[in-house]
Amino acid sequence: MTNTFPQRVAPLRESVEAALLQYVRRDLETTPQPLQEAMEYSLLAGGKRLRAILVLLAAEACGGEISAAMPAACAIEMIHTYSLIHDDLPAMDDDELRRGKPTNHKVFGEATAILAGDGLLTYAFEILATDSASAEVAAACVACLAKAAGPVGMVGGQMKDLSQEGRPGTLEMLESIHEKKTGAMILAALQLGAIRAGATAKQHAALETYGKHLGLAFQIQDDLLDVQGEQAALGKRVNKDSEMGKLTFPGLLGIAESQRRAKDLIEQALAALAIFESRASRLEALAHYVLERDR
Ligand code: IPE
Ligand code: IPE
Ligand code: MG
Ligand code: MG
Ligand code: MG
Repeated sequence: MTNTFPQRVAPLRESVEAALLQYVRRDLETTPQPLQEAMEYSLLAGGKRLRAILVLLAAEACGGEISAAMPAACAIEMIHTYSLIHDDLPAMDDDELRRGKPTNHKVFGEATAILAGDGLLTYAFEILATDSASAEVAAACVACLAKAAGPVGMVGGQMKDLSQEGRPGTLEMLESIHEKKTGAMILAALQLGAIRAGATAKQHAALETYGKHLGLAFQIQDDLLDVQGEQAALGKRVNKDSEMGKLTFPGLLGIAESQRRAKDLIEQALAALAIFESRASRLEALAHYVLERDR
């Protein structure tokens, strides 16, 4: 069965692309040209935009306006893109292909790639601080995203991922790496949408359960795609994790058990959406898509 999720969110994805383009071109006169080019190169390279879409769909599920959530959707996509630019650097995963194109440092050099990442990271927080409905919403969004992206979240996870390279690890360590490096940002996307929509405590809690399970399943699938996926569809190199000695789900538990766990996590994620009734139908489709995706 082909998953129709990409078609169902195509208009949202197009709005995200348009908003990102506007943001990245906003201060053209004052941003040094190579930095501007390098930021735009990776930001507009055609990712799936899943984190941005999660922000928008969480707002929709909580009864909020999708348009009010767009700045937060762009902010998280900028942080995510920065994390990919840095993840691909020779000092980290040393990758040459990303989103179907040569990696940022291959085109612009390492120094510019580092600064392009820094630029996107910092700009994301400027957007959250300035393009929010109130000072209270701005502060809540900044705190949420900073925590998820920072040392107890994504950056901490990246550190653990690198420290674990070439060493045997336990399932507990692996789950902790995945929860931090990937899960935290996926959960934050949902929380940002909920904050923008003025969600209730019950809605926040349901999205937290959905997001935790979805985030781990997403990274298990990323590990599986590295083993079983096609470079042409993925837009990044395959079989890279075993080459680098990464601790991964298929490496530790095998393919079949990893698939079983991912499926189980998605079922638990879906169960958490019951309170939203029909308003979460696109979040449901997204959860199925995470396992069916080939990129
Ligand atoms: C890749 O994320 C990095 C991980 C956290 C696994 P995505 O698979 O969402 O990458 P893009 O944004 O679609 O390129
Ligand atoms: C990266 O995980 C997670 C980030 C925070 C960028 P991976 O290293 O597995 O992501 P890919 O496979 O390079 O996209
Ligand atoms: Mg990595
Ligand atoms: Mg990588
Ligand atoms: Mg990977």
